Amino acid sequence: MTSPARAPQKRLFVKTWGCQMNVYDSARMADVLAPLGYAPVETPEDADMVILNTCHIREKASEKLFSELGRLRAQKEATGGRMVLAVAGCVAQAEGAEITARAPFVDIVLGPQSYHRLPEMVARASRAAGAVIETEFPTEEKFDHLPEVSAPQGPIAFLTIQEGCDKFCSFCVVPYTRGAEYSRPAAAVIAEAKRLVAQGAREIALLGQNVNAYHGEGPDGVTWSLGRLLRELAGIEGLGRLRYTTSHPRDMDDDLIAAHGEIPALMPFLHLPVQSGSDRVLKMMNRGHAAADFLRIVDRLRAARPDIALSSDFIAGHPGETEEDHQATLRLIEQVGFAQAFSFKYSSRPGTPASAAPLHVPEAEKDRRLQEIQALLRDQQVAFNRSRLGMRIAVLFTGPGRHPGQVAGRSPWLQPVHAEGGAELAGRILPCEVVATHPNSLAARILELPFGEARSGDPPNQEKAAA
Ligand code: SAH
Ligand code: SF4
Ligand code: F3S
Repeated sequence: MTSPARAPQKRLFVKTWGCQMNVYDSARMADVLAPLGYAPVETPEDADMVILNTCHIREKASEKLFSELGRLRAQKEATGGRMVLAVAGCVAQAEGAEITARAPFVDIVLGPQSYHRLPEMVARASRAAGAVIETEFPTEEKFDHLPEVSAPQGPIAFLTIQEGCDKFCSFCVVPYTRGAEYSRPAAAVIAEAKRLVAQGAREIALLGQNVNAYHGEGPDGVTWSLGRLLRELAGIEGLGRLRYTTSHPRDMDDDLIAAHGEIPALMPFLHLPVQSGSDRVLKMMNRGHAAADFLRIVDRLRAARPDIALSSDFIAGHPGETEEDHQATLRLIEQVGFAQAFSFKYSSRPGTPASAAPLHVPEAEKDRRLQEIQALLRDQQVAFNRSRLGMRIAVLFTGPGRHPGQVAGRSPWLQPVHAEGGAELAGRILPCEVVATHPNSLAARILELPFGEARSGDPPNQEKAAA
C-alpha cells in the first residue's frame, strides 16, 4: 500500500459559498482526497483539481456558480482538459442535470451526502467521457465513511453534528438539497471534538441546519438532546468555548435553555432565526410558532444567562407580506434588541411552496422593507458594540491582525477583536479591556499576558473570571 505521505502532490483548490456547513464540508472533502495525493492550495491557477462547493439558498448564490464555471472552462482547456472540475454542494444537488447540460466540461457533480465517494468518483471521471454524478441521500453512510479530521482548523473549529431538515419552511430549499434530518451518534461527535482540541481548537461551534433538533444516539443507548451533548462536550479538557448554530425557535427546549445558565463554556451568544415578526407571515412561512413564542424564548434565555446576546435572520417581502406585517417585524426587532443579525430580500426558489404562492411583493417594495430592517439592525449592532466599551472580557485570540503588531480574536459575543500583541498568542483565551468600539469590531488591551503554557482545563474558568 502506498502511504499518503509518499503519494505525488497534486494541487486541490476548493471554492466555498454558503453557510458554515459548506465550509466544514469543504475541509472534509480535502480530508477525503488527501490519501490520493491532493494538497489544498490558495488559488485555482495550476490546480490539478478544482471543487466548487455551492449554495442554493438565494437566486444570486447559484448564479455565481455559472459565472465561475465560465472562467474555469478556459483554464481547463489550457491544461488540455487534464484538470478535474467538480461541482459540489446544494446547487449540485438541486440542479445536477442543468449543470451537466450547461457546462458539459464539468467532470463531477456531487450532492452534499456523497462526499465520501469522491475518491472513487475521481477515478471514474478519469475513465468516463461524460460527467460522473452522485446526488443520493445516504447521510448515515457518509458520516460512517468519512475519514478522521486530518487538517487542523485552528483555535476556532466547526463540527457538524446534525444535517438536513424536516421543517419545510415555505421559502427554503434546504430540505430538498440536504435531505431529511439526521443526527450523528454522540460518541462520534465527542471523539471528533477531542481530536479537534488535540489539534489546537479552543472553541468548537457545533453545526446543523437545525442543530437544536439534535437527537443523536448516546453511548448509553438512549437518545441525547443537544443540551445533554453540550454538557458532555464542556467537560473536554482544553476546550474553552462552545457554540451551536443554526437553531430553530421550535426546538429551544427547557433543558437547552437551562444549559445556557449552567455551562460556563457555552458562550453568551445565540443565533436564533425568527424570519418575521408577523404571526400571519410566520404562519404562511410554516415556521410553527408565533411572534410571542419567540419573545418568550428570548426572555427565558435572558433569565438563564443575563449577558446573552442574540442574533437572528429576517426575510423582507415573503409573498403575501403586507406593510402591516413588515411593521410587526420592525416592532419585534425593537422589542428584542439584537447584537447582530442577517436580513435578506425574499428570493423565489423554484420548487418551494412560496415560489408558487400568489401576491409576490414587488422588487422595489422588498428593497425598501429590507433597507428599513437593516437600518434598525445596524443601529442595534452599533449600540451593542458601544455598550462593551470599558468592559473586561475574555478574548480568544486566533491569529495575526490586519496591521503589524496586532493580534486578532473573538469576543464571547462573536465580535471580531484586535489588540496589540504577537500572533504567538493564537489559541489563548485572555482577559482584556475593551478600549474602543467600531460598528463591526472591538479594540482591546490585553490585561494579563500568559506566562509559559496555559494549563489545560482552565479556559472555562478564565472565561468566567474575565466576564
Ligand atoms: N435553518 C435555519 C436557516 C437556514 S437558511 C433556520 O431555520 O432559520 C439561512 C437563512 O437564509 C434563513 O434563516 C433565511 O433567513 C434565509 N433564506 C432562506 N431561504 C430564503 C429565500 N428563499 N429568500 C430569502 N432568504 C432566504
Ligand atoms: Fe430552511 Fe426552515 Fe429548515 Fe431552516 S427550518 S433549513 S429555514 S426549511
Ligand atoms: Fe446554502 Fe446549502 Fe448551506 S443552500 S446555506 S450551502 S445548506
